[in-house]
Amino acid sequence: MSRAVWVAGNWKMNGTESSASDLARQVRETLPERPVRVALCPPSVHLAAVREAIAGSGILLGAQDCAAEENGAYTGEVSAAQLVDMGCECVIVGHSERRRHQKEDDALLVRKLARAFAHRLVPLYCVGETLEERRAGATDAAVTKQLDQGLSPALGHGLPFVIAYEPVWAIGTGVVATIPQAEEVHGVVRRWLAKRLGALGDAIPVLYGGSVNRDNAGGLLASPQIDGALVGGASLSSEEFLAIVRAAGEKKGGEAS
Ligand code: PGA
Repeated sequence: MSRAVWVAGNWKMNGTESSASDLARQVRETLPERPVRVALCPPSVHLAAVREAIAGSGILLGAQDCAAEENGAYTGEVSAAQLVDMGCECVIVGHSERRRHQKEDDALLVRKLARAFAHRLVPLYCVGETLEERRAGATDAAVTKQLDQGLSPALGHGLPFVIAYEPVWAIGTGVVATIPQAEEVHGVVRRWLAKRLGALGDAIPVLYGGSVNRDNAGGLLASPQIDGALVGGASLSSEEFLAIVRAAGEKKGGEAS
């Protein structure tokens, strides 16, 4: 079956309101006509500026995180409902930087995913092993645990979502997984989806993330196992990001919806 192809830019904690708006406008103005879902995930304080810059373009507005609670006395948090109100259509959940720095565990991520699903945000759920886990031969176990404990309890409603495989050792390091390494773990995720969701699992895109750039995107995205990319550093340059979108557009069997 053909799955939607995604390229999402995770801008992390970078930029100013004017640079965010300029970057979004540059992406919009030079976006190739390709059957690719393109999402921009700026810092939450820049969502409004980016929303204005991409209005009517078909580019999806995404957030980098959402709260596990619906609303109330949670200083500093941003709820899924507030993200939807802001124009977001998708949200990254479980990024390894939040797992590490904010100590987010699988139990918390289930609650965040539930809030995202409840508000019809498409979650981009991140999984990936650390270098220690890979060296110990525990990659499959680490990823399967994140799927079993962080994602599985939030499913069961048939709503769309996306998985991003992001080996922690490849994020922001310039060290990209080899295509066979990525394909092996994508296979683990794909088999998990088939077991958990049956034929419906076939529709779930599985993206690769971790030091994707204009030079390696073509090779990675040519793999039938890799349905797109979650891009960090390279998404801060419109030229780099658009080169990755073009590479994704070359994929066979992708669809726009
Ligand atoms: P990177 O980040 O492309 O800078 O490695 C990817 C990510 O964190 O999603």
